[in-house]
Amino acid sequence: MKDTIDLHKTIDESQQGEALMMASNNNGKKLYLESYGCQMNFSDSEIVASILIGEGFSTTRDSSIADVILMNTCSIRENAEVRVRNKLSQYQKQKRNNPKLIIGILGCMAERLKKDLLEEEKLVDLVAGPDAYRDLPGLIQEVESGQKAVNVLLSREETYADISPVRLGSGGVTAFISIMRGCDNMCSFCVVPFTRGRERSRNPETIVKEAQELFNNGYREVTLLGQNVDSYRWNISKKDEIIDAEKPTVNFAQLLEMVALVNPDLRVRFSTSHPKDMVDDVLHTMAKHENICKYIHLPVQSGNSAVLKRMNRGYTREWYLNRIEAIKRIMPDCAISTDIITGFCGETQAEFEDTVSIIKEVKYNFSYMFFYSERPKTLAERKFEDDIPLAVKKSRLQEVIDLQHVLSKAHNKSNVGKTYKVLIEGTSKRSEKDAYGRNTQYVTCIFPIGAHKVGTYVNVKISDYTTTTLIGEIV
Ligand code: 5AD
Ligand code: SF4
Repeated sequence: MKDTIDLHKTIDESQQGEALMMASNNNGKKLYLESYGCQMNFSDSEIVASILIGEGFSTTRDSSIADVILMNTCSIRENAEVRVRNKLSQYQKQKRNNPKLIIGILGCMAERLKKDLLEEEKLVDLVAGPDAYRDLPGLIQEVESGQKAVNVLLSREETYADISPVRLGSGGVTAFISIMRGCDNMCSFCVVPFTRGRERSRNPETIVKEAQELFNNGYREVTLLGQNVDSYRWNISKKDEIIDAEKPTVNFAQLLEMVALVNPDLRVRFSTSHPKDMVDDVLHTMAKHENICKYIHLPVQSGNSAVLKRMNRGYTREWYLNRIEAIKRIMPDCAISTDIITGFCGETQAEFEDTVSIIKEVKYNFSYMFFYSERPKTLAERKFEDDIPLAVKKSRLQEVIDLQHVLSKAHNKSNVGKTYKVLIEGTSKRSEKDAYGRNTQYVTCIFPIGAHKVGTYVNVKISDYTTTTLIGEIV
């Protein structure tokens, strides 16, 4: 099974050279930027590109002609790290023919392994953690002067709020906006709190400004990104106290509304919600604005309360189902997806059956499913034994994948005959005559484009389906 399959949370090895960018103060140096992992990494790479283009670099999609290769990496599962190491070894071969080539590692693996990749394994020249990207020009200079360069300091404040991301490979229709960084949740299986540091929210004015600029430049969809968007808070302390009485306070529901009001033709999505923090306010705001997409990604991880406790998720099965009930009550047409981990420490067959039953009960539109991969330094690694045999983890995973397959297909079948408003995102790779885009529920629709343009809305009547897509015609 592929480790990262979800476009929703994970963009697998996207070659972000797609959009070739030339700097106005061109220094003749070419940057090749490669991203692994979650949407947040993809979004961070756009900040990295912006910083380095500002220094005179241009981007290339051909790694063999690059002067600097930067890999923005993911540590969430072991497989993700293995793939990056393999790629780094490949680039090391290129360096043997071109000793001036600079190879750098960014993101979660950089933060987790710090100097190891540089000193012990000698795989890279430069290591920069997620909060150190402003320092990249300096770090590259250090390497050029013959040193190895590292900055893995985590910050409590950095949000890159003032940096306009360079949009890479989005086709000019949909874009990510990072609204917060880090995570304070400490789910016991997760390495993210260690690699991305403490949670901090970005100034809402800069978020709205970025959304407005994107709209002015022809974009028609933004996805607000954070590890736990429901705990977005501006000028409100963790204890719910106002920090500066002179300034307005903004929570996630309010931020969502502010972005929705930028323009009714700008679709707004967000990811990721956390079941323990998702309040009805957010759901009512979604219901109120047609342009806030009716789709929620609400990771459950397990359907068993004892496992959820070991995972330190902060909710029970009953609490989670209550949140699902609220979504369905407030927005009956809302699609729901989830993340599932099989074979977490100590998971009995009966506990696993609860995951199967919650999938059946919620009837997710789609799911991103993984088997548990123990990560160094996490709470689970320190507290529990990784005792479920790999074969059991994998067979449980296959069982939930098969179940989800049936559910997704049934959802898609029930859409036949319905008409959806779809934002055209591009033309199909197979035929220029076919367009693809999504409906509000995040399902991809394919249909003949006719005279319509990418970046416009059309109504598509669905006539057929596969497990992952709807097929139809513009009406
Ligand atoms: N093993 C397997 N899956 C994991 N995830 C996070 N950490 C791990 C791990 N150690 C999954 C969770 C999370 C998604 C982004 O990745 O389901 O929601
Ligand atoms: Fe990891 Fe949990 Fe934070 Fe998500 S909410 S990033 S799973 S610690």
